[in-house]
Amino acid sequence: MSCVVVVGTQWGDEGKGKVVDLLTRQADVVVRFQGGNNAGHTLVVGKDKFILHLIPSGILHTSKKCLIGNGVVVDLEVLQQEILALQERGIAVSPKNLGLSERAQLILPFHKHLDLAREAQKGKASIGTTGRGIGPCYEDKVARIGIRVVDLLDPEVFAERLKTNLIEKNFIFENFLKVPPIDPQAVINTYGPLTEFIRPYVTNVSLRIEEALSENKNILFEGAQGTHLDIDHGTYPYVTSSNPVAGSVCHGSGVGPTRIQSVVGIVKAYTTRVGGGPFPTELTDEIGLALREKGGEYGATTGRPRRCGWLDAVVLRDSARLNGLTQLAVTKLDVLTGQKKIKICTGYSFNNQTLTSMPARLKTLEACRPVYEEWEGWSEPIEGIRKRANLPQAAQKYLNRLEELVRVPIGIISVGADREETLFPDNPFS
Ligand code: GDP
Ligand code: IMO
Ligand code: MG
Repeated sequence: MSCVVVVGTQWGDEGKGKVVDLLTRQADVVVRFQGGNNAGHTLVVGKDKFILHLIPSGILHTSKKCLIGNGVVVDLEVLQQEILALQERGIAVSPKNLGLSERAQLILPFHKHLDLAREAQKGKASIGTTGRGIGPCYEDKVARIGIRVVDLLDPEVFAERLKTNLIEKNFIFENFLKVPPIDPQAVINTYGPLTEFIRPYVTNVSLRIEEALSENKNILFEGAQGTHLDIDHGTYPYVTSSNPVAGSVCHGSGVGPTRIQSVVGIVKAYTTRVGGGPFPTELTDEIGLALREKGGEYGATTGRPRRCGWLDAVVLRDSARLNGLTQLAVTKLDVLTGQKKIKICTGYSFNNQTLTSMPARLKTLEACRPVYEEWEGWSEPIEGIRKRANLPQAAQKYLNRLEELVRVPIGIISVGADREETLFPDNPFS
């Protein structure tokens, strides 16, 4: 019996989906615990590519159980589409292998409407959200006016909570944001059939996890977003509205902290960020563009081009501490092939000082300049390599230096998007 957590260590899109799909071979249950369909997790198996937004990335292993925990904000229209799309592609998705927490909060049409209207109103100062209604849904949860899956199952409760909530929202829409109001009856009409579709999947996720643990099963927790998008520890206010750090597994799924054995931090071999906010090692030159093209760095959710830059050890050291990382999984090492010189940021220069962790003050972070060390690159293709010792010397040196700077061992190295393009010396479940 083992509980392993997978989290992103940067600003998201590190390759969590690929690693979760890979580790599902050793797991029995895979659980999402925060975020919503702002996530886009890509799995590549041979010629097939799947992008998952809400369903855990273990779903291709249809004998395993996937659970969506209470900490996730769920747009049921998206969940239904995702289930149907997988079924159409021959993946058996049913209440036997997928469960949705009765306590999960619902993203409703007015949350998306609010997200988009606010971003439009902010103009240049916008956060660059995914426009999926994530922030407004979490706001309602904390304000205790949210609507949970279990509330939807009772049509009277749903209608009443919806109407009450919309009194305030519609006032804001019409009088402040100057956008059309939302008609509660239209939402009720859409959600009737959706409720019946989703009803068989609804379960108590905390109990399902406890049962699995009592049967000595392995549980894999799949983080979404990344540590530096964390609402508490990230580059606030340019963050998401949940806690992507490993600690949030406990409240987002209903499992106690003493049950967790290891935490795998996914590290892209360089850095990307999508949306606004500070990014000290961003490359706005041709190297940044080359990384974007070679790495296919376009958002899996919104299609937006991702900003690219060098690896940042300040970001990673913070992540090691904030998540209690026990191992790293380095992805997209192949994308660096062909770079003559590769840089790693080891600290930030600010006012004649060198900072070694992220400053909380936004203005300070914006004024920070990265302190780089430069490493030799390699030119030979590495996609076919399966042993660390067989990687080009320069790639090995880069990985050794990364381990030294972050002080966490590397257990997995990914050299291509496909499931099989992986060096896997250290199984976190063992
Ligand atoms: P996630 O949100 O963390 O799951 O990551 P995304 O799926 O948004 O973005 C990662 C992208 O990189 C996807 O297109 C993956 O298929 C791809 N990918 C993952 N690992 C590797 C790798 O080692 N090499 C290459 N070239 N692509 C990879
Ligand atoms: P995965 O799980 C990358 C970013 C958005 C925006 C900020 C707030 O695929 O790694 P939100 O819609 O959450 O309110 O947007 O967070 N963001 C992500 N960036 N990967 C993600 O998920 C993200 N989810 C949100 O671009 O900057
Ligand atoms: Mg993604």
